[in-house]
Amino acid sequence: MSQSIETLLNEQRIFMASDEFRVNATHSDPDIYKIAQSDRLGFWEAQAAKLDWFSPWQSVLEWQRPFAKWFVGGTLNASYNCLDVHLPTDRRDKAALIWEGELGDVRTLSYAELHDEVARFSSVLMARYGIQKGDRVTIYLPLIPESVVAILACARIGAIHSVVFGGFSAQSLIDRIHDSGSRLVITADGGYRRGKVIPLKDIVDEALEKCPSIEAVVVVRHVGNPIHMHAGRDDVYQEIMAETSDLQDALPMDSEDPLFILYTSGTTGKPKGIIHTTGGYMTHAKYSTQLVFDLKPSDVYWCTADVGWITGHTYLVYGPLANGATVMMYEGSPDYPDKNRFWDIVERHKVTILYTAPTAIRAFMKWGDHLPGMHDLSSLRLLGSVGEPINPEAWMWYYTVIGKNRCPIVDTWWQTETGGIMISTLPALSPMRPGYAGLPLPGIEAQVLQDSGVPIEAGGGLLSIMSPWPSMARGIWGDNERFKSVYWDTFETYFAGDGATVDDDGYIMVLGRVDDVLNVAGHRIGTMEVESALVEFEGVAEAAVVGVADDLKGQAILAFVILKEGVTPSKELERAAIEWVGKMIGAIAKPKQVVFTPDLPKTRSGKIMRRVLKSVANGQALGDITTLANPEVVDFLERQLNSV
Ligand code: WT7
Repeated sequence: MSQSIETLLNEQRIFMASDEFRVNATHSDPDIYKIAQSDRLGFWEAQAAKLDWFSPWQSVLEWQRPFAKWFVGGTLNASYNCLDVHLPTDRRDKAALIWEGELGDVRTLSYAELHDEVARFSSVLMARYGIQKGDRVTIYLPLIPESVVAILACARIGAIHSVVFGGFSAQSLIDRIHDSGSRLVITADGGYRRGKVIPLKDIVDEALEKCPSIEAVVVVRHVGNPIHMHAGRDDVYQEIMAETSDLQDALPMDSEDPLFILYTSGTTGKPKGIIHTTGGYMTHAKYSTQLVFDLKPSDVYWCTADVGWITGHTYLVYGPLANGATVMMYEGSPDYPDKNRFWDIVERHKVTILYTAPTAIRAFMKWGDHLPGMHDLSSLRLLGSVGEPINPEAWMWYYTVIGKNRCPIVDTWWQTETGGIMISTLPALSPMRPGYAGLPLPGIEAQVLQDSGVPIEAGGGLLSIMSPWPSMARGIWGDNERFKSVYWDTFETYFAGDGATVDDDGYIMVLGRVDDVLNVAGHRIGTMEVESALVEFEGVAEAAVVGVADDLKGQAILAFVILKEGVTPSKELERAAIEWVGKMIGAIAKPKQVVFTPDLPKTRSGKIMRRVLKSVANGQALGDITTLANPEVVDFLERQLNSV
């Protein structure tokens, strides 16, 4: 990590948005920072008031560390704020979603159409399945309009949605269904990925053999592939929707009623079900989308994230729809059928705002400038980045080749747990510096701390959010102790788990995770999940995985594996182990390489020292190895890696 600090610290370039951008910007008053600072709670109340509430709150914030309640006593509905509020306005017939499938088919839904579809599905959920407020519903869908419909239909009746990324395996689905205690799964027959069909329904069938809590499955017909329907359990979405014309009203929810659970990986143990509630989350979703992207009614806004991640929740669904935006949604992969697919979409749909991840940007860079060069990208006016640090090289490429030096870039730092963007420049207000996320948003207090918890004025340390904010996680589903220990035991304030530097202007550069969690292509993956999968593979005795720097994905996974006695290492075995992890967790977790080793570096108490493995794998200095019980293994591994 120290290496990246040094190279990045040399970054002196500063960019301002063009005069044209600034003149036309909605948010161009620099006083917003002062206003927020002088009366933080009042500022948040003003943001909350931009939502439609059924009844007002009695107090802004009740804080019993680490549990926050915001806008206490108020009632509202998230689905209502994304749909119904637009119906009496000129946004009624405006496109809410422009969806393009991987095959090139396009579907456009106006706000009125999306509203009706959602309200009808809510009524099906209640009338047919008896889904009630507080019930958990698992959504396992490709990126199709029905994923947005399912999310908003749950929110409309207070069912807590748990979206599981469609790339996850049956085992991951089982874990998440068990933990949440879901009653219903909403899935599709399949989804497209690079021209291939992912058989989602088959994966659900496999998972449900081990999920007794699930009473019913709704299957969206999307691909038309052959599927097996279990009589009495499974229904086709299109069929049950055709049977009703009832439109379910949005039910009033308490500000603190849970809106959703979203699972994210930690260093140890099973994935954490991060809980977000209604009033505070929606307040920040609406506010930050409007502010950071300088959203206008005329924008065609494209966030390329899947709904399976928090970015999809906040910046594909809740934030933009609460603002009445037109949301572009693309089902498939950026290189299908050709590597210019994204630029083709931007040109054809006249996308104005593009929000994507550094891993995608690095892939585009690798594929070559001629591909975006083939397309008219002049509709673009703002670019965003999220998911991991964007290295200055990729930033500059994004700025010049995609943005043609005219589009400001927002590098947005946040987490599943923060619910929405915490740190970013504001496009018309703050200068941009490649590699720097920038300043905390107005209303957010973030600082870089020393290990002792003392704030650093300039230099590197650990990132912390200093005071409660509306969209903060309300806990981990079923495990409040873990919530306390992971985020609140390190400092008095919220511990984000990221290293960061801050400079004299208060600009923050985020360096990445300080723990062992992997960040592959912008997504956190727990070492434990990958290791558990490897250990389940025949012949494997023990495994440890670490992230190694990867040009494309940010981090790739390197696995160190101890084989069982009598099992001989081979290329075939390596390949089979890699495939196995893909099957167990999903393609995203596949190791790039498996190194077979007779031993792993361990502490005297027997804990694997991943830190040492990481240094070896990345060719860095070992640091303090006094607690290492078996230093000889380090030499072995270094030789092994150098010989590859
Ligand atoms: C972790 C959160 C935020 C939604 C997508 C990932 C890293 C995220 C940035 C950024 C540097 C970033 C951090 C963070 N991260 N955005 N702009 N610059 N790092 O959500 O899976 O909860 O992961 O992603 O390490 O802690 P997530």
